Amino acid sequence: MIIYHISDIHIGSSYFVEEYGKNVIKIINKDNCDILAITGDLTHEGHYIEYKKVREYIGKIKSDVKLIIPGNHDSRNAGYLTFEETIGTRSKFIIKGNVAILGLDSSSPDIDDGHIGRENYPMIKRFFTDNDNKIKIIALHHHLIPIPKTGRERHIPVDAGDVLKLIKDLNINLVISGHKHVPFIWKLENTYFITAGTATTNRTRGNQKQSFNKIEITDKNIKVYFINTSTGSKEKVLDFNAK
Ligand SMILES: [Fe+2]
Repeated sequence: MIIYHISDIHIGSSYFVEEYGKNVIKIINKDNCDILAITGDLTHEGHYIEYKKVREYIGKIKSDVKLIIPGNHDSRNAGYLTFEETIGTRSKFIIKGNVAILGLDSSSPDIDDGHIGRENYPMIKRFFTDNDNKIKIIALHHHLIPIPKTGRERHIPVDAGDVLKLIKDLNINLVISGHKHVPFIWKLENTYFITAGTATTNRTRGNQKQSFNKIEITDKNIKVYFINTSTGSKEKVLDFNAK
């Protein structure tokens, strides 16, 4: 099972670089991508015209399944409605092979803070309880725990504590997110929290390069790679066997 995790494309932004966009397509299309997960900020301001470009862009990436969720930028200017019209539902339930992925919308209209919402906890619990024998992955835009190199901490989902407890109780294997444009991994209890860099923009921090992530799953073995958008080179950052 091959999952590509890309984030923070920001089509419509002056920081979006066409060449990086093309590289992402080229690298993924050379592989056999089973699931493409895009964790938000597809657009820069959530405008209709940006969504049209995003849809065209994502259409060029070959993958059996596409799991796409919105970020804070996508929900601006009633973009959460345009997301539903042009991309699909804002939360996604994917079961493929031995993998169960739940895509959560952590955005709110016109604010940058994250929010999952306690009304959604029973749905999260049900999905993963029903698929407890699978590799369990949650995808959302906002980071649930702080990430280095991001300055003063902000935008963590306002209910992150309760969501982290749920993640621990459900023994989730991976949580994948974006937002801060910094590729990083934390381990908390039995869960790895993996953030992606920005795949296609110059909105990077320090000398961080544009990147996206590849996740390879074979039975219970999970490998994660950070992929450099410019060069296609990959760095293995995780290799473990899920319990
Ligand atoms: Fe964001």
